[in-house]
Amino acid sequence: MQGYDATYAAWRADPEGYWREAARGIDWERAPAAIFDPKAGVYGRWFPDARLNTCHNALDRHVAAGRGAQPALHYDSPVTGRSRSFTYDELLARVAKLAGALAARGIAAGDRVVIYLPMVPEAAIAMLACARLGAVHSVVFGGFAAAELAARIADARPKLVISASCGIEPGRVVAYKPLLDAAIGLSPHKPDHCLILRRPELDCTLTPGRDEDLLEAEAAATPHPCVPVAATDPLYILYTSGTTGKPKGVVRDNGGHAVALHNSMRMLYGLGAGDVMFTASDVGWVVGHSYIVYAPLLAGATTVLYEGKPVGTPDASAFWRVCAQYRVTAMFTAPTAMRAIKREDPEGRLMAGHDLSALQALFLAGERCDPPTAEWAAGLLRRPVIDHWWQTETGWAITGNFRGLGLFEPRFGSGGKPSPGYEVAALDDAGQPQPPGETGTLAIRLPMPPGCLPTLWQADDRCREAYLEAFPGWYNTSDAGVIDADGYVSVMSRTDDIINVAGHRLSTGAMEEVLAGHPDVAECAVLGVKDSLKGQVPLGLVVLKSGVARPEADLARELVALVRERIGPVAAFKDAKVVTRLPKTRSGKILRATLRKIADGESYAVPPTIDDPAILEEMQASLGR
Ligand code: COA
Ligand code: AMP
Repeated sequence: MQGYDATYAAWRADPEGYWREAARGIDWERAPAAIFDPKAGVYGRWFPDARLNTCHNALDRHVAAGRGAQPALHYDSPVTGRSRSFTYDELLARVAKLAGALAARGIAAGDRVVIYLPMVPEAAIAMLACARLGAVHSVVFGGFAAAELAARIADARPKLVISASCGIEPGRVVAYKPLLDAAIGLSPHKPDHCLILRRPELDCTLTPGRDEDLLEAEAAATPHPCVPVAATDPLYILYTSGTTGKPKGVVRDNGGHAVALHNSMRMLYGLGAGDVMFTASDVGWVVGHSYIVYAPLLAGATTVLYEGKPVGTPDASAFWRVCAQYRVTAMFTAPTAMRAIKREDPEGRLMAGHDLSALQALFLAGERCDPPTAEWAAGLLRRPVIDHWWQTETGWAITGNFRGLGLFEPRFGSGGKPSPGYEVAALDDAGQPQPPGETGTLAIRLPMPPGCLPTLWQADDRCREAYLEAFPGWYNTSDAGVIDADGYVSVMSRTDDIINVAGHRLSTGAMEEVLAGHPDVAECAVLGVKDSLKGQVPLGLVVLKSGVARPEADLARELVALVRERIGPVAAFKDAKVVTRLPKTRSGKILRATLRKIADGESYAVPPTIDDPAILEEMQASLGR
């Protein structure tokens, strides 16, 4: 086994050789002759002449290799009381049949399918069925409201939508079907077909001529074989928050994705065939795409798909119970989940009685992990706790610590060192790498490695503008951070208007658009303020139109309801305050960074461009700091 330094150096010395070797882990219909074409696409394309099928690599090849009887997926749902395991044989049979049902409804390579499902096995089955046909899935997280789903349907223009009658949140059943109907009503593009999973907790009515029962359609279908596609063809689109209300459609290709994810399983997570990975996230997020569905299956491992929460389903022992029950080898979740467990069970008493002897490591990502939480988890588990930093756009870790390369000493508060494939720098405003220890905008030297976004869905120019224009030759992560003299990268905050609430990436700009739409609001700003559980929560500051006088609590209630209705409960928008004015620069830009510091009770420098410095004290008084 080569160590981290040697592997990183080997990649630096010969990037194409490194990825050519990694590509051997994948079954190709046409193996890559060319590894990278710098002239194609927005910044070049990986494996430009190769062909493969991702579903074949995730399922069929393991069955062909004789591992059909091995568990591929354990579904565990404390919110319904159900659980079920699928062997590779069983998962393949379901996926091939659903692919057949999709094909019978006209879905072919390149067509889009929107998947709006809770954490049920059908979510993974639907993703893989699309991959089997070369169709492009776009999964939408269940906590988004109809308008957000509509925006994604309008942009992706799916021929077909796969959804469910309901999802289950602790204490309430969320009716998905009315949200889907409303979204299709709002979207200018209408899908031809909807396949609906009817769950026993809440049924729904099917719209004649458009909707069908998913399980009936699947049962009646003929299994469909894998359809090979170009490595550069899109596997999926995953929408993520941008700085405006319009989400960005991050595209993932088939070839680079399969190679990078397969490579990451051994290198980063130290997992291979027969290991069990439990990623407690949601298939609606990139973490779920990569490490609930694709990577564990590409590696021939077993994945756990968990429909529940870290606490409350039924208590803070839930994760330990799952780890013990399925002999989980590595677990992956967001720091917020660990904070939730720590809050309810600080001594880890609920761990007792759960046999965690198979568990080798805990991985954390999705938001900055505060050192006390990492230390608490490491102390309790007495196993490596590995923070790693990545984004929807990259699809896998930019930095981390590498079980397959021999772990280096962890430093809590840092997301580790760059993964082989990534050259990372902290740039100053002029695009120059900062000396060690100085804060800058974290950027990745182009080209991005395989697995990262080749572009945004039908928006090459938006991709260039959003990521590549600020620092020519670099991809701008929009995260600010520091790289120390030993190469450890610490990610501190976003440089844009994105906030991170319970590991969920949200746009304050989108929330501001909603608040600004209220008839009484003249101006507004939404900030992410510190929260001990969720990391950040949004706070709305609104200035009323002149002549409007209303009790603050009434207005706040309406604004909270409006954000929930337009963006969804996941925004966790629960607090709005009325202020007389907002601090601005002389050119009229709202000073959000200063406002955030005031709201967090931090010290701040008076910005030299401020229009009226007196307002800052006013803000301190109205924010109660
Ligand atoms: N469908 C419908 N509603 C959903 C939903 C879904 N799939 N997921 C979340 N929601 C709702 C929640 O019910 C909650 O509604 P409420 O305001 O009525 O209570 C709201 O969205 C906010 O959810 P969340 O931020 O998750 O808060 P919570 O209080 O329900 O749970 C934690 C707090 C910490 C337990 C939870 O956030 C958690 O498990 N986080 C892990 C983070 C994670 O997996 N991140 C993914 C990236 S790795
Ligand atoms: P998402 O695209 O939803 O995965 O969110 C990506 C963003 O979450 C990043 O740009 C960071 O701001 C933040 N993030 C993810 N992982 C980490 C981490 N390990 N440390 C710090 N921030 C993180």
